[in-house]
Amino acid sequence: MTEKFREILDKRLSRRRFLQSGGVLALGAGLPTLVSAAGKTADAEGTVRSSLTFNEPGHAITTALEVPAGYQAQVLLKWGEPLFTGGPAFDPSQQTAEKQQQQFGYNNDFIGFLSLPLGSANAKHGLLVVNHEYTEPQLMWPGSPDDRTLNKAQTDTDIVAHGLSVVEIVLQDGRWQQRKDSVYTRRITPLTPMQISGPAAGSARLKTAVSQDGVHTLGTYGNCAGGVTPWGTVLTGEENIDMMFGGDFSQSPEAESLKRFGMSAEPSKSWSAHYPRWDMAAQPNESFHMGWIVEIDPYDPASLPKKRTALGRFKHEGANVFINTDGRVVAYMGDDQKFEYLYKFVSAKTYQPENRAANLQLLDEGTLYCARFDADGTVAWLPLVFGTGPLTVANGFRSQADVVIDVRKAADLLGATPMDRPEDVEVNPVNGAVYVMLTKNADRTDAQRSPANPRAKNKAGQIVEMTAPKGDHSLPVFAWDMFLLAGRRDDPSTSYHPATGKNSWLACPDNCAFDTKGRIWITSDGAEDFGIAEGIWAADVSGAARALVKRFLRSPVGSEICGPFFTPDDGHLFCSVQHPAGGSNFEKPSTRWPDFDPKMPPRPAVVVISRQDGQPVGV
Ligand code: FEO
Ligand code: CA
Ligand code: CA
Repeated sequence: MTEKFREILDKRLSRRRFLQSGGVLALGAGLPTLVSAAGKTADAEGTVRSSLTFNEPGHAITTALEVPAGYQAQVLLKWGEPLFTGGPAFDPSQQTAEKQQQQFGYNNDFIGFLSLPLGSANAKHGLLVVNHEYTEPQLMWPGSPDDRTLNKAQTDTDIVAHGLSVVEIVLQDGRWQQRKDSVYTRRITPLTPMQISGPAAGSARLKTAVSQDGVHTLGTYGNCAGGVTPWGTVLTGEENIDMMFGGDFSQSPEAESLKRFGMSAEPSKSWSAHYPRWDMAAQPNESFHMGWIVEIDPYDPASLPKKRTALGRFKHEGANVFINTDGRVVAYMGDDQKFEYLYKFVSAKTYQPENRAANLQLLDEGTLYCARFDADGTVAWLPLVFGTGPLTVANGFRSQADVVIDVRKAADLLGATPMDRPEDVEVNPVNGAVYVMLTKNADRTDAQRSPANPRAKNKAGQIVEMTAPKGDHSLPVFAWDMFLLAGRRDDPSTSYHPATGKNSWLACPDNCAFDTKGRIWITSDGAEDFGIAEGIWAADVSGAARALVKRFLRSPVGSEICGPFFTPDDGHLFCSVQHPAGGSNFEKPSTRWPDFDPKMPPRPAVVVISRQDGQPVGV
């Protein structure tokens, strides 16, 4: 890191002290003890105590999952488990599409817990909505087939292992049970009827063989993270949808657009070999149906999921909605690819606590913005509105539909800041600040460094904190700070609190959650590259222990943890163990977590963690 960046960062890391003494912002009690790794230490290890009292599990990579002493981890839902009464039992050697359609899908990612009944804060009974982001055929099928060469029957099974599962769960005698006879149980797959809404609905560019009207469409896939709205729906992000497509599109009038999204003629999967829907030589516009935020109402199993095009089309990690001071809703979103951007959407209309039907339309009308992070510690939100600035016919935009379909190009023209893979972006419900997980970006060069992405060859990631002046999230300018530069504890470019334990460090922050005390819980995707297990870490966000991270969970080899989500009382923390034994194969998996049965492959699963004494998690 050069002097220039170190200077900017030192300001960004210590700004809070000045702000608090000046009384400009009130972001929590107590003076933070922030230091940079440059060495301005104030507290040695052990003299500052985190409010998080658990004892950390180990950090070496092992085959098992571990939580702190005094905690328990229940494996609640595993890939292949039948979701319906009388559903087909899981047999990895006899798997079919018909069975998979009725079973829990693969590689669970986002988890949302929505209390039952609707509108309650019941922490013991609710709906669990879970994303199934992608598959790994080499771990799923005997013979470890290549993803690109699955036969038709395998491909059909593979397709319906994607999407989402909706299940009803209840806490009985300290253990969560799935109600298989629930009216809410649902599998949503790449074949489920859906509707396109918002400015791109009906656009000529969305009219395809699957959708004559550009409004009705089929399915969702690549569902990575997401969010739960205040009106009880789930937003799921369509992320790496380019994997499913193949075929030469170089002669298509949409070639530029497809290229900017990262589409490649060489498919990563077998779908395009068996179905023209995913063959871009035949259907170059089909991919415009993907890359959206999809809103799903789990309380109405007959409801059509809606693709909310007002929120833009990119590789959506997720979306988290916050009710602003004026009642409008604000959704924060990251485009999870190297050098892509951060976005927010501000609704035109306001949230109405007594009118759910109106709230279900809120995400169709409003203004989408991309973010520019400046060295003076401000974030400028740049409106992505057709007809303003460079977003005109001269630059290829004929309507707002074009702006949202080609939103990456629009953000390029507005000068948004290329980021180090923005993943979860969430508002802390206690201090109102917004936290941005930036996983990593090893491709960033010295010349491409910027204040919020200050490290070249960034393999470890960072967390940026944004503050809306007076808590008004609709404003065009925010402040930002560096919350944490992650990486090895002894790497001088990191920014750990000096009291951080020598084995407590983390790398590659990916998803996050907040407990009701406003403490941040961070999951990783890439820690194994640093020789430590993936997992969950937690930290205070204010006070003397601000950003003092502690490891809470150790994840099995090859996996990543995603989808952390608390019950409303913090009593239980749900999380996804995704791709256990990742990088190995069916015959010789690096772990057989969670069954440890020689006849069973490793299985992605939802885990729910609680304290054995019934106290809230993290107390
Ligand atoms: Fe699917 Fe951005 O991780
Ligand atoms: Ca993710
Ligand atoms: Ca990830």
